[in-house]
Amino acid sequence: MASLEEQNQPKLVDGRARNIVNLRISVTDRCNFRCTYCMPADNVEFMHRDKLLTFEEITRIVQIASGMGICRLRLTGGEPLMRKDLPVLIRMLAEVEGIEDIAMTTNAFFLKEHAETLKEAGLQRLNISLDALDPEKFRHVNRKDCLNEVLEGIKIAADVGFKSIKINAVAIRNFSETEIMRLVEMGRSDGFEIRFIEFMPLDSDQTWERDKVLFGHEIVDFIRKKYELIPVENSLEIGPASEYNFADGKGRVGIITAVSNPFCDHCNRIRITANGKLRTCLFSTHETDLKELIRGGASDEDIIKTIRGAVLNKEPGHKINLDDFERPHRAMHAIGG
Ligand code: 5AD
Ligand code: SF4
Repeated sequence: MASLEEQNQPKLVDGRARNIVNLRISVTDRCNFRCTYCMPADNVEFMHRDKLLTFEEITRIVQIASGMGICRLRLTGGEPLMRKDLPVLIRMLAEVEGIEDIAMTTNAFFLKEHAETLKEAGLQRLNISLDALDPEKFRHVNRKDCLNEVLEGIKIAADVGFKSIKINAVAIRNFSETEIMRLVEMGRSDGFEIRFIEFMPLDSDQTWERDKVLFGHEIVDFIRKKYELIPVENSLEIGPASEYNFADGKGRVGIITAVSNPFCDHCNRIRITANGKLRTCLFSTHETDLKELIRGGASDEDIIKTIRGAVLNKEPGHKINLDDFERPHRAMHAIGG
C-alpha cells in the first residue's frame, strides 16, 4: 500500500505530538464473568443489540483509520467472544490494507472452542485475564467458579501457536499477594509473560480506593525476594508495561503502573466502544459518536475530519492522582479494557 506520505495523508497525531497507531475496538459490553474490579454482581444493563456497530461498520472505520496510520488493532469486550461470529470480523479486519497486527483481550473461557478458528481468521496475539490461581480466590474476584475451564482454554490457545500470549492480572492489595508468585512460576514454566496491572478506578461497584491498589514497585520487590530481575530498557516508551527479564533467562514479567506511574506520555491508543463512540483515553469523560455519523450517511472525508478533531484533543493523561479526577461515566466492561 502507498505510504501515508505518498497518499498525502498526514499521520494521526494528537495535540501533544503523540502518534496514534493503535485502535482498540470493543465488540460487546457483555461478559460471562462479573469481575469485582469491572462489573457489578448483577442487574447489569447491556447495550441494545441494534446499538452495536455491525461488522461492516467496524470494518469501514478500520479502513478509514488505517488510511490515517492506524496499523495495530486490539479486540476487547466485555468478553469479545460473547459476540457471535467474531472470527468473521477478524477475517474482515485482517484483509484491511495497512493492518499489521490484530490482538484480543479475553477471559479465556471460550478459547477451548474457538482458539483455532480465531488463529486461522488472522488473530495474532492474545492477552488473557487471570488474576488468581487459587480456585477460591479466582471465584471470589471473577465471581465465577471456572478456573479449570480458563486454564484449559489457555493451554489450548498455547497449542494453537499464537505469536504471543500474555497473562494480565489485576493487582489488588490484600488479595493478590498470595497469587503473585504462583502466577510468576506459571509464566516461567509455560512461557507466558505475566503482567500485573495496578487496580484502576474503573469498577462499576465504585469501591476503588487508593489503599486497594497493590503498587508495581511492591510487586517487583516481592518477586525480587526470589528472582533477580533485569529491567528492559525503555519498555515504557514502547508499551504500557515496565518489563523485567528474569536474570536466569527464563522469561519476562511486566508491571503496568497504571496508577503510580502511568504511560500516558507515550500513549498511542484510541478506542471505539461497542456502540460506536470514539474515546481518546481510557478515562475520557467525553466521547465522539461515530455510529450516528456513519448511520447518517457521512462520507469518508467527514469521518476522517471527525477522528482527527477528536484525536487533536486527546487528553494529556488520566488524573487519578490529582484532586480533580473524575471517574469516566462508563465502567470497564462498557469501555473495553
Ligand atoms: N483495573 C485494572 N485493570 C482492569 N481491567 C479491567 N478492569 C480493571 C481495573 N479496574 C483489565 C483486566 C482485564 C482487562 C479487560 O482489563 O486485566 O484483563
Ligand atoms: Fe468480563 Fe473482563 Fe470485565 Fe472480567 S474484566 S467482567 S472478564 S469484561
